[in-house]
Amino acid sequence: MKYKLLSELKSAAAPVSGQELADRLSVSRTAIWKQINNLRADGYEIVGRPKAGYTLIGPENVITPGAVEARIPAEYRGHVVVLADTDSTNEQAKKIAAPGGFDPGGMVVARRQSDGRGRFGRHWRSPVGGLWMSVVIRPPIPTADSGRVPILASVVVAGAIRELTKIDVRIKWPNDLLINDRKVGGILTEVAAELATVRYIVVGVGLNANFPASLLDDIDGARATSLLSEGGDPVDLCNLAAAIASRLFERAPRLAHDFADVLGDWRRASGTLGRDIVIRASGEEHRGRAVDVGSDGALIVELAGGERRTFRAGEVTLRPKS
Ligand code: BTN
Repeated sequence: MKYKLLSELKSAAAPVSGQELADRLSVSRTAIWKQINNLRADGYEIVGRPKAGYTLIGPENVITPGAVEARIPAEYRGHVVVLADTDSTNEQAKKIAAPGGFDPGGMVVARRQSDGRGRFGRHWRSPVGGLWMSVVIRPPIPTADSGRVPILASVVVAGAIRELTKIDVRIKWPNDLLINDRKVGGILTEVAAELATVRYIVVGVGLNANFPASLLDDIDGARATSLLSEGGDPVDLCNLAAAIASRLFERAPRLAHDFADVLGDWRRASGTLGRDIVIRASGEEHRGRAVDVGSDGALIVELAGGERRTFRAGEVTLRPKS
């Protein structure tokens, strides 16, 4: 009944009244009203105007497993979980991957998260309209090389956004996504490893997509933005989710051999190299210019006194361009 109602709304060229929908589906108007509310709870945006009737807007805001699975490699089909509302997709993905599920990989996407997690234990705001997804990969790499994954993930996400929206997205080291120095998305990578080898890695991607930036507070001290505010049009979330996951599934198995290519892509998409920055690492703050990334993805900074220092972890703030 809910899906019949949805297809009636999808095919309607003009607003449809509750009575008309009730007649078409041979149910009461109260039943229509209840199902409209269920669809809204699933994340569909449906506007109801008193005399005119109901209009479905923004179907691109709605992710369905079928639409994502049609666009990812065959071996991962059946491994796409879509949730209307969850605490954190990273948590849900770990619950499936830890006992051996999602082999060789899989993904969890949510329309909304109540307890989205950011880096450094921060909360991540996740309203309806954003892309909140966690991709599980099982790359054959030693635990010591797991720092390659956040670098790959940022290259993949920036590439998918550029391809689908033509927006010039840049990467702030190691894996924040920026448009004109404003944060549009972030990545939280969690590694499950034996002593020497990786078991699985959860790549949690959060993108402020189809809602205006005014809905957000600033993120990590940087001004926040959204794809909608920058590009003007909503993006198709199914396409974007599938493009990100497919690229990760394709490139993760080659991570042991092809990291030089990944670093090349990272350098080209970087919004950090050549910039004056402040980096906070191990409780200390350092100022300097970001000059390169090392072969393991660490950031190389030329400090004020001319000394070069390598940072494997830390939080970067870009200083305004002079
Ligand atoms: C950051 O702090 O920049 C990283 C933010 C990562 C947020 C995403 S949203 C999907 C996934 N689930 C989470 O709880 N966090 C990540």
